Amino acid sequence: MRLVSQLLFLTFTLLAFNAGHILPGAAKEENREHKVWARAGSSVVLPCHLSPRKMWKLPEKTSVLWKRHGGSAQQEPLVVLEVGYSGLRKTALPMRPRVSVQDSALLSGNFSLRIDPVRSEDAGLYEALVAYNTLIQSCQVELGVITVTLSPPSPVIENEPLLLSCNSSHQASLVEMCWFHNGHLVPTSRTFCSLHGALSILRPAMSDAGSWRCQLRYSDNEIISTTYHLQILGFDGPTNPVVYAAAGSAAHLPCALSYLPSAFGVNAVSGHWSRLAGEHLQDWSISQNSSSRSFPLHLPRVEPGDAGQYRCSVSVGSKTISRDVTLAVVTVTPSIQGLVSEGSRLLLVCSLTHPRGHERFQWKQLNSALAKSKLSVATSHNLEGHRPRMGPTLEIPHVSQRDMGTWECSVYGPEGRLGAVEYELQVTGARVSSPPTTFSGQVTFGLMLTLFLLLTVCVLALALQKRARSPAFPGLEGMFAVTVPRKKEMEENQKEKIQQTEC
Ligand SMILES: *[C@@H]1O[C@H](CO)[C@@H](O)[C@H](O)[C@H]1NC(C)=O
Ligand SMILES: *[C@@H]1O[C@H](CO)[C@@H](O)[C@H](O)[C@H]1NC(C)=O
Ligand SMILES: *[C@@H]1O[C@H](CO)[C@@H](O)[C@H](O)[C@H]1NC(C)=O
Repeated sequence: MRLVSQLLFLTFTLLAFNAGHILPGAAKEENREHKVWARAGSSVVLPCHLSPRKMWKLPEKTSVLWKRHGGSAQQEPLVVLEVGYSGLRKTALPMRPRVSVQDSALLSGNFSLRIDPVRSEDAGLYEALVAYNTLIQSCQVELGVITVTLSPPSPVIENEPLLLSCNSSHQASLVEMCWFHNGHLVPTSRTFCSLHGALSILRPAMSDAGSWRCQLRYSDNEIISTTYHLQILGFDGPTNPVVYAAAGSAAHLPCALSYLPSAFGVNAVSGHWSRLAGEHLQDWSISQNSSSRSFPLHLPRVEPGDAGQYRCSVSVGSKTISRDVTLAVVTVTPSIQGLVSEGSRLLLVCSLTHPRGHERFQWKQLNSALAKSKLSVATSHNLEGHRPRMGPTLEIPHVSQRDMGTWECSVYGPEGRLGAVEYELQVTGARVSSPPTTFSGQVTFGLMLTLFLLLTVCVLALALQKRARSPAFPGLEGMFAVTVPRKKEMEENQKEKIQQTEC
């Protein structure tokens, strides 16, 4: 009894995890009954190996008949499949496309029956009758079916309440049902082992996808389990994605399903984007075929007014799933619009339309116009310009020629660089003329005026001196101009000298 149950467990384990393989050593167990468990929807092989040494040298003289003894006792055994002496096959109508034996395997005494896919109503006792001339041998295999039921049925949608339940064709009364996710018993806080053990997942998330094992324990100590691979249809990427785009540039809003809808057998798929902009609803429809799971929205040019929440809705068969995507636009606001004069104080403020509060900003001069035109001057000053500066506001206290060019503001989040925006700084006075020229011109004019005035003074002084020295009668001069005028003349002479030195 112990051996039998161990054997059954082994059979079950092999079949549950890798349906389609035969129990080794079955050839020695001819005419003995086996029990095989299979999950509805998977495939199963009912083993029947008869030793070739007994006969079967000439397969055309062999016939095989697989019958199922009805689940309910009153029914006649149902012919599942018959391979006659001539190789003719007959199959029972309800199972016709799902059952097969391998012709090549018959030669080696392998009369196993393959059922793909198994249905819950296939459960029952199967018998193979193998006839060679008058010699008849038989195999008996009991097929037990475990059914995993999803409510609502597949495809399972992210965040949509889900009930997973499990039953089997075993006749005894169920004592306990347990669920294991990826090999671990589901935490008791979330569920469980219980009598009416349906597993309820209120908000299925992508993390709930994967293998789920249902283990059933019956009053006769029979333990049956099966594994179900749960796929959840949702979206790729984070739950509330934010897309960062520079004002004036293009934006791509992503919307990709976690699986190809065709993986769920659904071919009718359509994508749709909408946005409530103030009072009116904008919408875009994205046409894709079922071999695509991506429905991105491309906006060729975004401005701060385009920022906000966009909704991507994808219809998969009769179900529609939606995801909100936020578009955040990065802008630069300069304190001076347009051309900036050299020497002025300029503030460039980098901002986000939808800040989440943890963003960091970084300013960097990408290329200096001066560095381009005067390569020889590209020394430490320009390197300084390329060094990034932190914070949303970039202050240039005295705009100079070397500040001219492209400035980039990058936005960083905990996850890395989110986006960037560029600003073209145009500085006037690039030809070393206009405003500085008027200034130096004024200076020159003032200097010239001063010089001219000084010159005039000199000329006047000289003229005065000449007039004082030119009396018509030198003798007369010699007579009474002995003292005072002489002294005066000397004084005048000295004055002239001083003036000349001054000039
Ligand atoms: C016996 O035949 C079945 C299909 O009918 C096949 O799946 C199985 O692998 C075969 N077993 C061996 C041992 O060849
Ligand atoms: C298990 O449940 C499924 C779905 O409810 C049902 O179709 C099937 O007949 C049940 N199987 C048994 C053995 O009760
Ligand atoms: C589906 O679209 C992809 C590209 O979007 C294309 O390569 C493929 O041929 C299309 N398939 C069908 C069946 O239209």
